[in-house]
Amino acid sequence: MARTFFVGGNFKLNGSKASIKEIVERLNNADLAENVQVVLCPPAPYLDYTVSLLKKSQLAVGAQNTYLKASGAYTGENSVEQIQELGAKWVILGHSERRTLFHEDDKFVAEKTKFALDQGAGVILCIGETLEEKKAGKTLEVVERQLTAVLAEVKDWTNVVIAYEPVWAIGTGLAATAEDAQDIHKSIRKFLAAKLGDKVAEEIRILYGGSANGSNVASFKDKVDVDGFLVGGASLKPEFVDIVNSRK
Ligand code: G3P
Repeated sequence: MARTFFVGGNFKLNGSKASIKEIVERLNNADLAENVQVVLCPPAPYLDYTVSLLKKSQLAVGAQNTYLKASGAYTGENSVEQIQELGAKWVILGHSERRTLFHEDDKFVAEKTKFALDQGAGVILCIGETLEEKKAGKTLEVVERQLTAVLAEVKDWTNVVIAYEPVWAIGTGLAATAEDAQDIHKSIRKFLAAKLGDKVAEEIRILYGGSANGSNVASFKDKVDVDGFLVGGASLKPEFVDIVNSRK
């Protein structure tokens, strides 16, 4: 089966109502490829505002993080139930910035992934190695370790989209080559086939993230195991439409 092309925009801690309005209106007014699913992930305070601006069914909104409880004494956290009430349908979990800056380990990411899925949200699950791990030849060891933690918690991967984001490519302008990304995505899919079966592995989308931009995404076009992108900096720029349309 053909996997629907998927592009996530991770705005990180960037944006304002004015800048988000500009981004969404650009997408609303663009002639977007039909076979693409776009998920915009603004900072949490703008979730409902962003939802209110959407004019196309292929556009959706996601949060950048959620907690593993629906409510309670968890100051500063985002609730899956509450982001859903605002119209957000997705959440990014396990982003390398959460893992490094906020010390989220594999088990915590796995537990949050299970909780979000159980609440009916879609999860963009981020995995990826650091430069040191890459240099040590441990890329697959790392991503398989990160996936194994989630496999221990999650049995139904229907609403999971994986984002392979080599940490050394995030925010550096130095994207992985399309060839390298394809090799790693293929290995990830093969690993998941062994754990979850061929059908699930064939259907799951595996995105590339890490300095993806309007200039380099064309090089990924013929990479059969690259099903889209999770875009940071370039999602804030006009070129984001080009990335969305890069499989058109
Ligand atoms: O989640 C996507 C992000 O980590 C990639 O950031 O700026 O390298 O596209 P960027």
